[in-house]
Amino acid sequence: MGPGPVNGDPRVLRAMSAALLGQYDPAMTALMTETQGLYRDVFRTANDATLLVDGTSRAGIEAALVSLIVPGDRVLVPRFGRFGHLLVEIAERCGAEVHVVDAAWGETVPLERIADAIALVRPKLVAVVHGDTSTTIAQPLEELGALCREAGALLYVDATATLGGNEFRTDEWGVDVVTAGLQKCLGGPSGSAPITLSRAAVAVIDSRRSVEAGIRADDEEAAPPAERIRSNYFDLGMILDYWGPARLNHHTEATSMLYGARECARVLLQEGLDAAIARHRRHGRAMLAGVQGLGLRPFGDLEHRMTNIVAVHIPEGVVGDAVRAAMLADYGIEIGTSFGPLHGRVWRIGTMGVNARRDAVLLTLAALEQALRRAGVAVPAGGGTEAALDVYGGKP
Ligand SMILES: Cc1ncc(COP(=O)(O)O)c(C=O)c1O
Repeated sequence: MGPGPVNGDPRVLRAMSAALLGQYDPAMTALMTETQGLYRDVFRTANDATLLVDGTSRAGIEAALVSLIVPGDRVLVPRFGRFGHLLVEIAERCGAEVHVVDAAWGETVPLERIADAIALVRPKLVAVVHGDTSTTIAQPLEELGALCREAGALLYVDATATLGGNEFRTDEWGVDVVTAGLQKCLGGPSGSAPITLSRAAVAVIDSRRSVEAGIRADDEEAAPPAERIRSNYFDLGMILDYWGPARLNHHTEATSMLYGARECARVLLQEGLDAAIARHRRHGRAMLAGVQGLGLRPFGDLEHRMTNIVAVHIPEGVVGDAVRAAMLADYGIEIGTSFGPLHGRVWRIGTMGVNARRDAVLLTLAALEQALRRAGVAVPAGGGTEAALDVYGGKP
């Protein structure tokens, strides 16, 4: 019940134990094509360029940024938590001139401040996290795509922690590139990063496309483009050629992760995206009411909280890590603290993937009540579970 990774959906774990296939087996390429279609629905996009990057969510971020950024490009990062810092760091490593609009942790970055910064910086790319797991706050994105388009900038969004459990509309919001991971609302293991790219983003990548020597059939001496993408593994041009009709060899596709990613999408779409988001919202609301019922104070701007994680201040005098250790040792329940300035100041409790469930919420609240009492906090008896049950309104 932490901020992710969370328990894997049993269907996903089962799918991952299926027999391995070679990467040129027609069954394998058919699964790849099917998975692309499934993720178009998950991302709510018609983008042809929708695929998986092999690696954890950060592999998707790195692939997107290194493939789009030519050293010297101006990149603007609205930053409101740890994962905004990660975007800055990766963009800097790609040689970008990075500009930042900061908000305090626990808040969002106001759209007007982003608009002013875009006007000032004139970035090629705006890169932002949707839900920054470190603070549990989600940046509103509905109007950002139009703003970027007017300014001729591409918009990249890290939706690792929100996709599948929070509203996310790639095409409607005009987002050019979105990356995610499986280990949060999608209920799978980490190790595969779904990604989708608009035509405008693919055009940038096309201008930097190259084919590896030894793969090229005709012109073995072809010179690399002037601005060749500075990573081989994360070269989205090559990865698109691998997933596209040419099926040009690149890495050896991670077969079991492909099975897992496909099953995550199938589970989600069979439930229905809207239903899954509503489920995350409901159980997240119950968890929030529950921790408040225990007398804990939520952290951050509640109007903009992610559906799937609640952050609460650790009560004065309580050693947060000791309570977390007790929860894990005595009840087998993991909750998280946070990073940097919030480490040891807040706990983060997730309700996502298969853990966005009534019994998981109630058991966590009951265990937390007991762990808090043992830590010397005067907690109202049953205050957490009662408040959560009130949200459920008696309906399982
Ligand atoms: C919003 C966000 N972005 C990126 C990452 C990095 O993901 P990974 O650890 O899968 O590389 C995380 C991980 O928690 C995250 O929450």
